[in-house]
Order: sequence, then structure tokens, then C-alpha cells
Amino acid sequence: MKHLLSTDGLDRDQAIAILDTADRLKQALLGREVRKLPTLRGRTVITMFYENSTRTRVSFEIAGKWMSADVINVSSSGSSVSKGESLRDTALTLQAAGADCVIVRHPASGAAHRLAGWLKHTNTSVVNAGDGMHEHPTQALLDAATLRDRLGSLDGRRVAIVGDVLHSRVARSNVHLLTTLGAEVTLVAPPTLLPTGVEKWPVTVSHEIDSELASQDAVMLLRVQAERMTGGFFPSSREYSIAYGLNERRLKLLPEHAVVLHPGPMLRGMEIASVVADSPQAAITEQVRNGVHVRMAVLYHLLAHEEETS
Ligand code: CP
Repeated sequence: MKHLLSTDGLDRDQAIAILDTADRLKQALLGREVRKLPTLRGRTVITMFYENSTRTRVSFEIAGKWMSADVINVSSSGSSVSKGESLRDTALTLQAAGADCVIVRHPASGAAHRLAGWLKHTNTSVVNAGDGMHEHPTQALLDAATLRDRLGSLDGRRVAIVGDVLHSRVARSNVHLLTTLGAEVTLVAPPTLLPTGVEKWPVTVSHEIDSELASQDAVMLLRVQAERMTGGFFPSSREYSIAYGLNERRLKLLPEHAVVLHPGPMLRGMEIASVVADSPQAAITEQVRNGVHVRMAVLYHLLAHEEETS
């Protein structure tokens, strides 16, 4: 595997290989005072974020550092991007400077694929850390890792993805990956927050949350992405919270074993009540922890697959 651009391009064996590697890396680091493996010594990883991020950026940086890579962070505001340099020229510059891997987040759907195209005659790998409304493959992988920790195999498991599917790269990546891993996905959203063509996706669609909850093994809540709704949005925050927010009453409709996920950042009180976010059924901090191991695994498969993990 040279790049990780989408979960759409991952087959079941590749996805399970990454998740198994993440598990092995987690075990290898468990209880260690010094969390440092030599696996990527001498490799250079550059994160290039054109959109804000806390979780993805920090966990990629930690992942690279825990594997002894040199990690350099570039942001659009602090680089020559702010002087008008194009994505292509920036990518070629980072490659020429010695990047073995470029991790990119960009507001334009397809940006990571374009980058991989420009770098195709080089040895530099590209990881998509979120491109517009398209994909966020490492988020879906860390979600799957968290569900495997809590539920075991995903074959036949039922997962509801609730909220702003229209603008969500997390939802797209999860639909591909969860169905590849054998889960049954239900999208729960108002018609205004579903994409055109959703009827062709391998999912069931519902506009009503309460009747769906009792049959789910997991519920994944999505952030309502107001920044991508230039013309305002319907329903309003209050209407949304009443119709789709996971509150204490709705938590009780879920089976006891069901897991609550949220990719973050969370809008407490809107898509999720604090009492739910902080409940034992919520695995939100586990998602963040697994994000480091999954991103280590991705870097391992791209840059060090011929070597041992520990
Ligand atoms: N889930 C996620 O991508 O979070 P950040 O935007 O903080 O990276």
C-alpha cells in the first residue's frame, strides 16, 4: 500500500491487517514508561493541515514520534500557502525537502487524491486526514478499532450513523469501512441533511431516531457542520437537538451493550447530551486513544511494512 486516500479503496483483508497491527502496537506499548519504538527511525513525516484539527493532527504527530519518525507540522497560515503557493507546489516542495509521507487535511473534496497524483513518480506516501465532505479514512479505522474492542467482530453488527450525513466525510468513510467489515449501517437524519443519491449507498435510511435505537449495537453521532452550511441550515439547532440529539431518555432505548461514538469535536447539548457523552456506554475518549494506535499502524503499513512492529 503506497497511500491511504479513502476507505472505499480498502478491501476487508487490508482493513483487518491495519486494525490487527494497531492492536499489536497497542500491546507493544502497554505499560511502557518510554513509549518509543524504533520502527520509523530516519523517516520524515509531514502533516499539512489547511483546516483546523485537534485530534487528527495531534494523534498523527504522536503516532510518528512514538515510532521514532521525524515529524514536521505545516499549516496554511504559517507557510508559503498564505503567500499564494498552490497545493501542488507545496506538495512538490515538501517531497523535494525529504518527506517520506505527507498527511494532508484540506477543505476541498479530492485534494488528497490530487496530491497523490502529483507525487506518483516519487516514493512519497500520502494520507488523507480529511478532504472536504469526501473521506476521513483514519477516523473510520479508529472507529472500527473502538467497536472491535467493545463488541468483537463487526460481522452482522448494527450501527446507526446519526446526524449531518450530507457534510460528513466521517459518515462516508464509515459507511464504506463498516459495510466492508460486515456491519449493517442505518443512516438516521432529516432529509435536508442527507446527500443526493443516498438511496444507492449500501445502507438503510431513516428520518426518525427513537424507533431505530433498540436494535442497534452502536450509535455514531455526527457533528452538525454549520461552517459548511453557508445559507444557514434546517432544522435549527434547537429543532435538531429535540428531533435527533442523543439525550438521557434516548440512551435508555439502546440495548445495554450498545456503544456510543462521536468523532469530535462534540457539540454538547446539541447532538449529544453531557450525561450521555460522559456515560459508560460512550467510547469517545477510547476513540481518541485508538486514533494514535491506528495512525501508527497506517504509518507502519505505508513506510515500514517490511520490518517488524516491535
Ligand atoms: N475527528 C476529527 O477529525 O477531529 P479533529 O477535527 O479535531 O481532527
